[in-house]
Amino acid sequence: MKIFLDTADVGEIREGVAMGMVDGVTTNPTLVSRTGRPFKEVIEEICGIVSGPVSAEAVSMDTQGLIKEANELSSIASNVVVKIPMTVDGLKAVKACAEKGIKTNVTLVFQSLQGLLAAKAGASFVSPFVGRLDDLAGEGMDMVAELLTMLSNYNYSAEVIVASIRHPMHVVQSAMVGAHVVTIPFKVLNSLTKHPLTDRGIEAFLKDYEKIPKG
Ligand code: G3P
Repeated sequence: MKIFLDTADVGEIREGVAMGMVDGVTTNPTLVSRTGRPFKEVIEEICGIVSGPVSAEAVSMDTQGLIKEANELSSIASNVVVKIPMTVDGLKAVKACAEKGIKTNVTLVFQSLQGLLAAKAGASFVSPFVGRLDDLAGEGMDMVAELLTMLSNYNYSAEVIVASIRHPMHVVQSAMVGAHVVTIPFKVLNSLTKHPLTDRGIEAFLKDYEKIPKG
């Protein structure tokens, strides 16, 4: 399973890259706004750090506006993937982008059939949001499992990026259902490395090391 970082913070991205854990990055307007920096500058810098796909979100509501933004965003760097919302206008823009060879990531997917339509329109990536669905007493991972089965039944090449990850169990479940990619906040990546028994074990070994006579 590929791991993307769901952040626009270049410090976090550099740290994740140093750990060898970053196959790509996803951003959204909320994440970029938290940096307090201009949109294009941030995306450009991230694309210089990461060689894998970097999702940058288009915000137009109409097809023509989305296509215009897709052209602009994809000219920032060759690894930019244009994030397009799951709407009728969005699907039209995805189709137009696919015809031009521009990669897209259809975002804000909350139903497996929305994901199937996105793949059919020609999306390279589809992003089901599990955490936001769980927040409303839904079952986010069921949607992901359904979507993966649908895409595989019909040999779609779109990759499923499990998004809106809240905790390590979402990552475990993503891997168990065979998701192509999971995009995780940096704090979740950090928590995946930790276990109290690892800390306790290190502490005990260090203490015992001190007891070994110095030769
Ligand atoms: O990048 C999209 C998605 O991962 C957002 O997550 O936590 O705002 O629901 P969240």
